[in-house]
Amino acid sequence: MVTSENLLRDRLGWRRMFVVTVLVLLSVTSVISVNRDNFKTCDQSGFCKRHRAMQPGSSPYVVLMDTLKVMGTSVEVQLVNRKNNIRLLLQVSAVKDNSARVKINEMDPIKKRYEIPVGDALVGEPKLQDMKVLDRSDKSITLGFEDNKILISSEPFRIDFINKEEPIISINTQALLKFEHYRKKDSPQAEEQAPPGEEGENKEDEEKKEEENVEEEKKEEHKEEEEPSMWEETYKSFPDSKPHGPSSVGVDISFPGFEHVYGIPEHADSMALKTTKSTDPYRLFNLDVFEYELYNPMALYGSVPVMLAHNEKRTVGIFWHNAAETWIDISSNTADKNFFSKIADIVKGGSNEIPQTDTRWISESGVIDVFVMLGPSAHDVFYQYAQLTGTTNLPPLFAVSYHQCRWNYNDQDDVKNVDAMLDQYDIPYDVIWLDIEHTDGKKYFTWDNDKFSKPEEMINNVASKGRKMVTIVDPHLKRDDNYQEYREARDKGYMVKNKDGNDYDGWCWPGSSSWPDFSNPEVRKWWASKFHYEDYQGSTPDLFTWNDMNEPSVFNGPEITFHKDVLHHEGIENRDLHNMYGFYVQQATAEGQLLRSDNKERPFVLTRAFFAGSQRFGAVWTGDNMAEWGHLKIANPMLLSLNLAGITLSGADVGGFFKNPDTELLTRWYQAAAFQPYFRAHAHIDTKRREPYLQPEENMKIIRNAIRARYSYLPFWYTLFYDGETKGVPPMRPLWVEYPTDKDTFSMDDEFLIGSSLLVKPITEAGQTGTQVYFPGEGQVWYDVETFRPYPGKQTTYVEAPLSKIPVFQRGGSIVPRKLRIRRSSSLMVHDPFTLIVCLDRKGAAKGSLYIDDYHTFNYRQGEYLLRDFSFDQNEFRSQSGDQFGKFTTKEWLEKIVVVGLRTEPTKAVLKVKGEESSLQWEYNSQYGQLIIRKPGVNIASDFSIKLT
Ligand code: NOJ
Repeated sequence: MVTSENLLRDRLGWRRMFVVTVLVLLSVTSVISVNRDNFKTCDQSGFCKRHRAMQPGSSPYVVLMDTLKVMGTSVEVQLVNRKNNIRLLLQVSAVKDNSARVKINEMDPIKKRYEIPVGDALVGEPKLQDMKVLDRSDKSITLGFEDNKILISSEPFRIDFINKEEPIISINTQALLKFEHYRKKDSPQAEEQAPPGEEGENKEDEEKKEEENVEEEKKEEHKEEEEPSMWEETYKSFPDSKPHGPSSVGVDISFPGFEHVYGIPEHADSMALKTTKSTDPYRLFNLDVFEYELYNPMALYGSVPVMLAHNEKRTVGIFWHNAAETWIDISSNTADKNFFSKIADIVKGGSNEIPQTDTRWISESGVIDVFVMLGPSAHDVFYQYAQLTGTTNLPPLFAVSYHQCRWNYNDQDDVKNVDAMLDQYDIPYDVIWLDIEHTDGKKYFTWDNDKFSKPEEMINNVASKGRKMVTIVDPHLKRDDNYQEYREARDKGYMVKNKDGNDYDGWCWPGSSSWPDFSNPEVRKWWASKFHYEDYQGSTPDLFTWNDMNEPSVFNGPEITFHKDVLHHEGIENRDLHNMYGFYVQQATAEGQLLRSDNKERPFVLTRAFFAGSQRFGAVWTGDNMAEWGHLKIANPMLLSLNLAGITLSGADVGGFFKNPDTELLTRWYQAAAFQPYFRAHAHIDTKRREPYLQPEENMKIIRNAIRARYSYLPFWYTLFYDGETKGVPPMRPLWVEYPTDKDTFSMDDEFLIGSSLLVKPITEAGQTGTQVYFPGEGQVWYDVETFRPYPGKQTTYVEAPLSKIPVFQRGGSIVPRKLRIRRSSSLMVHDPFTLIVCLDRKGAAKGSLYIDDYHTFNYRQGEYLLRDFSFDQNEFRSQSGDQFGKFTTKEWLEKIVVVGLRTEPTKAVLKVKGEESSLQWEYNSQYGQLIIRKPGVNIASDFSIKLT
């Protein structure tokens, strides 16, 4: 059995690994915590340390106002570093839909600085809009667009974004801008230039002189404090040759008036980000972190450099468009107060200080390229960010259903058996997954011929019940001349190269491996072609893909990844684009699926590594978590942070990857995940089998109910994902997104909303039989989705939650579409009828919508869909078309309407379709005012009304 490589590689060199296999196998269950020694701290990362050593107020940059160019949508002006006279170019542009872009690059670098190509993280060139010059002097310029002002001040250099006279985002207010220009190592160093404006010279003369010298200066190298880490750096036994020397960039970004900032996934931390005053900064550097620890800012598998700030008045955001290793410090004048100042505030009757969160962004290379998203609402920020990096494409329905995975289903019979057992126990599932052991010696695109000799037959068998399969396809290629994909990539020169120009050779699952350079569009095209049915033998249209280890994970590399000086196409170092590698792997894979179906079928690709924009290519999961209550609990904030940063089709391994969950934990995990966007059970190869039907009967039934609940809500999820594609709004939302003025919700991450209609409070502690639930919304009412018991808004109430109970509540005022005839898979339910749950607000009204299409192709983009708008008001239910574009015929019909919160039983229910009237039957339960209208029987596409009198 191939086991525990993950554990082993963490502690041992690959070669020694085999020798001590037995010993480590014995220790598998006992040693559980991250080996921090494998990962750098800021202090061990030269550039981070250099930036962090710089104190506020010490940035040497000023704006040379006489170089200002105003160009309609943008302004350009030079900055000069007064210590060394290096010039930078600042560009500020107004971006459509209330955003702006601030770019700072070297004026005349000796080597072009890396910028992420447009079309990769950014979907295209951002659309700009005109700005007006509102005011201009030799010290500053004020620009205006929409109802914002941008004030650029020259000395000290800072940029303030002001909305209706209130500053909301400021750049370089703490003067922490540091831009390490490219330089030559061995060239003679020039004398330090006298800083302009010193030694009694008047400023005009000074600037004139400076102009004259400018050409000269550009050619010269400038003396700066050199630090040993600038030209080479060794971490553990791994040298980083740094052939281009120091190249880092960093600046501070402040959010005046904001106490709460969010986002910058992926970290195993609370949703509301913490101050980093006494910790390392939050780190963004895609890494395979074995047995990650909770509540700390260490890097994980993916990086989205997007931060949102929220207060009672507005939400704003920034997107730091840089793919290099990045560290983010956070400080706050309120959170950082010491105990005594807090007491002093209380004694004074509160602090008058305006709260402010200050952040500092430090990247190892590239340019400063910051998008400022000015909201003003969270929904606006989602839209603004979606305009830049795109949205989660509407997933095929099976993707949002339940996925059954483990490392590994051993052979075809195993697959057949799991499939049959789930049927036998009446547990729906849509996708069964095959991990690395299904391959011939970890050569992806191949099958182990003994265990999977008839893959097509196996897939077709599963597909006969409307189900799908997924196989893992990792980016490391076994260096084996008999392996076609490896040979081709090597012969075509497609591999990532080490610094000497040879194919990079590292260790991963197959042993010695090389990695295709997915940052090269030509390589992506080649990779995509490998998904053609004739190339990927044994694959069928029902087979989809899982990209793992794509940070990339290199068992014998520094921090378990590539050396930073490995080379991608056009000589670009991994240092520059590291955080994009996994993005490109998933992109190429998704393109492969598109190609094989002639762009007709929606792809499905799950990835572990990701970057801003990865949402366009599929799903993300939170990697190797553990079967511990803490890991169940942290899934909420981790998924909320991902959702806030656009990665919306995301989930955590149900049950926990490492270790064996007890039945209670597993049961609670299913209940939580049934209400999170992406729902997959997965387990490490060393764990005991834990498929739902293996659980004690009571637990099995509860788990089954949770999965069935998921299937009943699929129409609701699907509608939310449609909204997501069109508006960028995440399905899983923190409460503050919908209740922006309710301060009590700002750090709440143990409960969340699905859309704006369902409130979920998963049970995440052992032995709990009830929980305090905060119901938001003054004057609102929430209904338990099982009992319809009402709970008033803006209060915390204890809710019973025995093991069988998932605390989920529907908002009064909402209409949620469901399908209550649960079948073996989602595709067997596509023609089934809907039930609409109409929960009334205090005025007796409700609204909702439903999106429908064929659930798997792109035909909806040609208008083959239906959007229905539902409303209930003054005792009348109405169904109307939600837009004039969608046209789709469907067999789906309306089976039931459940109205909740109706004070009096009607005497008549009259259905009106196309002018024809008929009477309907109902049942009424006076306890919670629940009216069940049976069999309206209308096709869901029709306009109709039901009048209660
Ligand atoms: C690491 C992944 O995170 C895990 O989910 C997977 O099972 C193993 N690699 C083996 O492929």
